[in-house]
Parts: sequence; C-alpha cells; structure tokens
Amino acid sequence: MTQTIAVIRGDGIGPEIMDATLQVLDALKLGLQYEFVEAGLGAYEKQGELLPAATLDAIHRHRIALKSPLTTPVGGGFSSINVELRKRFDLYANVRPAISFPNTRSRYTDIDLITVRENTEGAYIGEGQQLSADGETATLTQKITRRGSERIVRYAFDLARRLGRKKVTVVHKANILKTTSGLFLKVAREVAQQYPDIECNEAIVDACCMKLVMDPQQFDVIVTTNLFGDIISDLCAGLVGGLGLAPGANIGTEAAIFEAVHGSAPDIAGKGIANPCALLLAAGQMLDHMGRCDEARRLRQAIVDTLQARDGLTPDLGGSGTTQDFARAIAARAAG
Ligand code: NAI
Ligand code: MG
Repeated sequence: MTQTIAVIRGDGIGPEIMDATLQVLDALKLGLQYEFVEAGLGAYEKQGELLPAATLDAIHRHRIALKSPLTTPVGGGFSSINVELRKRFDLYANVRPAISFPNTRSRYTDIDLITVRENTEGAYIGEGQQLSADGETATLTQKITRRGSERIVRYAFDLARRLGRKKVTVVHKANILKTTSGLFLKVAREVAQQYPDIECNEAIVDACCMKLVMDPQQFDVIVTTNLFGDIISDLCAGLVGGLGLAPGANIGTEAAIFEAVHGSAPDIAGKGIANPCALLLAAGQMLDHMGRCDEARRLRQAIVDTLQARDGLTPDLGGSGTTQDFARAIAARAAG
C-alpha cells in the first residue's frame, strides 16, 4: 500500500528547501505520495486564511505532515500558526535531536543528544496574558498538569528505550517555581521509577545550560517543559553548527508534523542558497516514525557523506553551492 503524507511547502525559503527534500526522498524510492496543502502567509494571500480547513483535513486524514517554515504576519493580532497546529492536533512531544555532522564549523564534533520538549502547556502557551490599563504590569498564567507532565516524561523514557539510549535528564527549576516546575519534577521522578533500565538524573535549567556549553557529552536524552525546551533545544542546535542542521518532530497520538527548527529566512528567500539539511533531517525523523528506519539511516548517511565530501555545501556551511547543488549531491548518494 502506498502511503500519502500531507506536504506544506510554506513561506520564504520553504518551497526551495521542500523541493530539495522531496527530490532526495524520491531518490530513496519510498513509494510515498504527497498531498500538497497550504498554510501560512501564502495561504492567507491566496485563500484568506492562515490555516485553511483543507490543510487541517489533510493532516487529519494522513496523520503525517512534512512542513516547511511558515511566516505568521506581524500585527493584525495573528497568533502563531505553529502553536495553533500543535494545539489543534495535541502534538504534545517536540523531539529535537542535536547530532554533530562533519564540516559544520561547530564547537564540538561528538554531540549526540535529543531534547524532548513538552509542547502544549506551561508559560510558552501564553495563557491569561494581560497588560494592565496603565501599561505598567503584565501577567501570564503558567499551567502545568500531571497528565501533561506524565505523558511527556513517559515519551522521553520510551524514546530512550527504543533508541538504546542510556540516560534521561529531567530539566526543571523546581527550587524556585515550586508549584509548576515542582509538579513536573515530582511526576518525572514517579515515571522514572518505572524505567529501571534507564538512568535518570536531574538538572536545574540554568546550570544545565552551563553544562551543555562546557561538557555536552554528558547528556543523552533531555526532557523538560515547553519554554525551557524551546531555549535548550536552540542552545543544542548551536552546539552542532546552527539552525541549518536542526530538525524537529511534533508528535501526538493522532498526528505528527515534521519540520525544520528554523524559520522562513526572508533575508535569503528566493536566492536559492538555503540549506535544506534541517528539513531533510526532519524527513529522516518522519521515516523513523513510520517505521522505515533503514531508509531513515540511508538518508542520514547520504547527508553525512555529502558533508564529509564538501559536495555542494551551501554558504551557511562555508560552501558556495546552491540549494539545488546540495540536494542533487545528497540525492545521488541516497539513491545508492
Ligand atoms: P529564521 O530561522 O528564519 O532566520 C534566522 C537566520 O538564520 C537568518 O539569517 C536566516 O537567513 C538563517 N537561516 C535560517 N534557516 C536557514 C537555512 N535553512 N539555510 C541557511 N540559512 C538559514 O528566523 P527569523 O528571521 O527570526 O524568522 C523569520 C520568519 O520565520 C518569521 O516570520 C517567523 O515567524 C518564522 N518562523 C517560523 C517557524 C516555523 O514555521 N517553524 C520557526 C521560526 C520562525
Ligand atoms: Mg524556538
């Protein structure tokens, strides 16, 4: 049976990196079908909606979407489309691997860690945001639930087990945020007891950032709440050479959306020089999610080999290749 996925080409550099990614996926001969749907600024300009019903319907039907970055129009009170998608499909786990690749001008060469970020609650959601009439006082509600904490920590431990990883670090600030972060830590400790085969340790978020910069090799899987995870995963992207190499999966029980961590990069859009690797690596996460782990490995190996050979590298990686040059080089290796 051929499988169909929803594909969102997105805004800015989105269409360029999506074309490159689909070219490489085609080279892997996966037999995948694509249903192209729109979201973001492009959808708004054409259809008058940032997130058309047909797009939601396609994600709902296929349960898997590969998505390029979207531009949320500034002003006009639009809320983030990405936050909206996570809410709609209850995509509670945001999984962001940070793995060292060759020739990426990064500080380290041996990083291999995964941040599992809770994606649906906490301060990041912006619940109850208020500014007093005089503009002097701003408030925000931070809600953490047992259910939300339990399912994300369980997800992290199950992921560690599935990937043969050894350690999960629970990142929190329970010493200060005693109720919210405190509940998260308490639940995490309970869940950890059910995984005696996986080592569990704890780190306070600020100290954790310092350790990540100084000695990142001590980390394996990190699990944390939404806002901390947002910050820590970008820090980790910085450890392995920046946003051009950072993929992310948004996973729920009914659907999963795979994307690059970076945005639509309007400064380089249309120039044909965007690095497609982050979206390609997200496609690799998608293949793993679909149980097509061999093909995911082949895809990652093709990227590694292409970087190693410095074949067609884009300017952000110090090369002078175009998105198309780079994609062609990776596709040739993926085809085997
Ligand atoms: P950005 O990630 O788009 O760009 C930051 C810098 O990194 C820019 O200099 C850009 O040229 C560079 N960059 C990003 N991706 C690159 C790639 N693949 N290859 C080479 N260079 C790359 O962040 P920015 O400028 O803050 O946001 C631009 C737009 O993207 C905004 O409208 C924002 O809302 C949206 N955005 C969308 C996201 C999504 O859909 N998941 C995530 C983050 C931002
Ligand atoms: Mg972020």
